Amino acid sequence: MRAVGVKEYGATPEVLDVPKPTPGPGQLLVRVAAAGINPVDSFIAAGMYGKPPLPLVMGVDFAGHVESLGPGTSRYTVGDAVFGRAAGTYAEYVVVDETGPIAPAPDAIELKTSAALPTAAGTALAILDRAEVRGGESLLLLGAAGGVGTFLTQLASARDARVVAVTRGDESIRMGLLGAAVTIDATRESIPDRIRRDEYPEGVDVLVDLVSTDPQTFTANKQLVHDGGVAVSTRGATTEHGTVQSGVEEIAFILQPTADLLATLAKEVDAGRLKVFIDEEVPLEQAPQAVARIQGGGARGKTIVKP
Ligand SMILES: NC(=O)c1ccc[n+]([C@@H]2O[C@H](COP(=O)([O-])OP(=O)(O)OC[C@H]3O[C@@H](n4cnc5c(N)ncnc54)[C@H](OP(=O)(O)O)[C@@H]3O)[C@@H](O)[C@H]2O)c1
Repeated sequence: MRAVGVKEYGATPEVLDVPKPTPGPGQLLVRVAAAGINPVDSFIAAGMYGKPPLPLVMGVDFAGHVESLGPGTSRYTVGDAVFGRAAGTYAEYVVVDETGPIAPAPDAIELKTSAALPTAAGTALAILDRAEVRGGESLLLLGAAGGVGTFLTQLASARDARVVAVTRGDESIRMGLLGAAVTIDATRESIPDRIRRDEYPEGVDVLVDLVSTDPQTFTANKQLVHDGGVAVSTRGATTEHGTVQSGVEEIAFILQPTADLLATLAKEVDAGRLKVFIDEEVPLEQAPQAVARIQGGGARGKTIVKP
C-alpha cells in the first residue's frame, strides 16, 4: 500500500510502498479516509519517542471505515466510521487495537474532517480538565492560532472561561469568532504589558503555554499568573506534574488519549460546541511538503492528508 514515512530516523519523509497490515487478535483494520498532521509526527519520525522498526510510517491521527476485524473483536463491525490514534496513519490502511484510543466518528462533520481531532482537540479538552478551568476564569493561551489553540479557545469559551489568545500576526477576527475575548499579536505588542496593565493587573487564573520550550521563558510567562493559579506547558518547559512553584501550580502536560476522551470530543462536535477548521487538505503524496510547512511554523488550524 501507499504510505508516507522515513527509512531512517530523522530522514526527510517520503512516499513509501509498504505491506498492507493485517489485524491481529483484538485489532481492526481501518481504511484511512484521512490522517491529521501534528507536530509530534516529526518527533516520532526523528526517533525521539523510541526506535520502532524502519521504514516508519508517520502519523498518529486517523479517521476511516473499519475494513476488517481481527480475531476476538466485538466492539465494531465492518463499515463503521471511526476516528482515533494509532501508529502509522499516513497510509491507505492502519491497524488499531479496538480497546485503544478509537471511537465512533461524529455525525455532524465529514469523516475526513474528524482526522483533525484526536491529538489537538484531545489535548485541548484534557488540558481544560487537568487545569480544572471553570466559568468566569481567565485563560492566557500562547500559540492560540494552531491546532491545539483553536480547539482550546472554543472549548474554554464554551465553558464561559475568558480566553486571552496570543498569536503571531493579526488573528483577532478569526480568534474572536472562535470565542476569544481578547487577541494579542505578539509581534506588535508586549504580552506582559497587555496583561498586567490592561487586562489582569492581578494576573490571570490559568496560563497554557503551547510555545515555550525552555524553562526560563516559561518561568517568565508564569509571572503573568496570580498566586494560586495554574501554568501548563505542552512542550516540556516544566517537568512538574502538579507541584506549586512560586505560588503557581505547574503542569507538564502529556496527552493520554483514551476512547472516552475521543467519545467526548465526538459529542462536543455533534452538539455544535466544537468546530473543526481545516487549513489545508493534501493528497498523501504531498504529505512530506505539508509536514515541512508545519515544522516551519505558521499553522492556522489543522492540515489533513488524504490517501
Ligand atoms: N505534550 C503533549 O502531549 C502535546 C500534545 C499536543 C501538542 N503538543 C505540542 O504543543 C505544541 C502546539 O501544538 P499544535 O498542534 O497546536 O501545533 P501547531 O498546530 O503547529 O500550532 C502552533 C501554533 O503556535 C504558533 N506560535 C509559534 N510561536 C509563537 C509565539 N511565540 N507566539 C504566539 N504564537 C506562536 C504558531 O503560529 P506562528 O508560527 O505563525 O506563530 C502556530 O499557530 C506543539 O509543540 C506540540 O508538539 C504537545
